[in-house]
Amino acid sequence: MQLVSDSSLNELRFALFDSGVGGFSVLVELANALAGFDFDFDPEIFYLADTARCPYGPKSEAQITGFVEQISKWYLGRKVNNFVMACNTSAAIASNKLRLWQECPVWDLINLTCNDEVLKYNKILVLATLATVNSKAFSNALQAAKPDLVVEELASGELVNIVETGDFSSINTRNVLKYYADYAVNNKFDAVIFGCTHFPFLIDQFRKYLPESSRIDLINPAKYLASQLGYKFKAKSGLSSGRSLRSASDYIKNTRFFTTGNPDNFAIQVNKFLNLSTDRIEYVDVQELEQCKVTVNSPNHHYINDLNIIPKFA
Ligand code: DGL
Repeated sequence: MQLVSDSSLNELRFALFDSGVGGFSVLVELANALAGFDFDFDPEIFYLADTARCPYGPKSEAQITGFVEQISKWYLGRKVNNFVMACNTSAAIASNKLRLWQECPVWDLINLTCNDEVLKYNKILVLATLATVNSKAFSNALQAAKPDLVVEELASGELVNIVETGDFSSINTRNVLKYYADYAVNNKFDAVIFGCTHFPFLIDQFRKYLPESSRIDLINPAKYLASQLGYKFKAKSGLSSGRSLRSASDYIKNTRFFTTGNPDNFAIQVNKFLNLSTDRIEYVDVQELEQCKVTVNSPNHHYINDLNIIPKFA
């Protein structure tokens, strides 16, 4: 347990969003990371699932940018002070714009993936949505850091639907996963990045289709969030604050969930993916979101871009 030493830090309100349940894979990592710190206040987490407009992957850049703009504005009223783009499609298309629209730090998993642990590989396969692949956001970011790295991005948006519907064991799902696993093996990749936040829920199953001798590493970018948060909340060694500490499941339990879809259905998904039984799902009408437009874009606007810090791994 690390006692947070930054006395100027007295409030943390994290805004997460995704097209659906994919961002739960990020929420879990965020909750795990926060549970490793001893704050003398209670950090809060908000999660908005834009279920009514899921999937984002096949949509145009203009549509995705519009969604991010609306969600960014919608969150302004909730006084959030850390944005976590729990949707890589949104990050690939609009993370830079979100950084202009928000004064607070914006965490995006694509930048977080460009770290020493990933850059040690020579040939990487990225599985992601069509919009992410078309944007080349992963290849551009990774190759900017290591120009001779071979990166291939493969549009695999059907995995989003598999996760959304919870169809983990059908023959179709098995065939799809086997196809991508064979592709990774036959083309001699060192690592596969699960570049859509829905996909890490399939990592264990995917692994079953790799031969036992395979040395291909499977990467969930969300796990790098914890190390980056570690840079932000500089730890002080010493005694604890004396408050009762929150576990990762406490953080998940206290998350405020919103959906543009059917709250009852979303509650079932929360239960299934997060093992949390709740009837406190709040409904957001898409029309309400569509009213949200960002108007502030001051040239004096400044924000802390934590992502300029590339984490170093021992
Ligand atoms: N989970 C999101 C991502 O990381 C969105 C997937 C989708 O809606 O197509 O890309």
